[in-house]
Amino acid sequence: MTLALILDVIARYLHIISILVWMGHNYANVIQNPTFKPAQPSNRETMSAAMKREHGTFRYASLVALVTGIYMLWFRGMFLDALTLSGHAVVMGVGVWLGIIMVLNLWFVLWPHQKKVLGFIPASDEERIRCSRITFLSSRTNTILSIATLFFMISGAHGIVLYL
Ligand code: HEM
Repeated sequence: MTLALILDVIARYLHIISILVWMGHNYANVIQNPTFKPAQPSNRETMSAAMKREHGTFRYASLVALVTGIYMLWFRGMFLDALTLSGHAVVMGVGVWLGIIMVLNLWFVLWPHQKKVLGFIPASDEERIRCSRITFLSSRTNTILSIATLFFMISGAHGIVLYL
């Protein structure tokens, strides 16, 4: 077994663990907060360090998922075919594009607003309430996207029979 093959196994393992950390947080949030709760003025200073750590953990887990996913595509020579939805890589490619949208949504929609909710960036009470609505919707968007992403990731790897 070559080093590249071992790295591919490790990448796959890290990919799945990081998805568990990221989406585990997301799904737990759905259960804990089934409906929207606006940011409260009273919790401005008391947003716990634990919550900040938790947010950082799943945010960086999403980057591990992205990097390991790209590594696997590159290692298997599927990178361009997946991104251009060509040939047998089309199924995986749909999953990859959905996954990329999820990462972009997390980093460029959810996180800039969450920074105000968590108090990293000073904001008025009204602004924090507005931002908490956006983070809620952005998070739920990723919950819904994850259902399709998981299907395409798994069937792209193991379910080719579905597409014959
Ligand atoms: C961010 C961009 C992503 C890229 C580039 C990517 C890429 C990949 C690749 C190349 C594989 C290996 C497939 C194979 O063995 O043939 C894989 C597996 C997998 N991915 Fe992703 N992925 C991404 C995001 C995600 C997301 C957001 C999820 C979940 C919501 C996810 C869930 C999975 C799962 C569960 C597997 C294992 C599939 C299996 O072995 O059956 N991935 N991914």
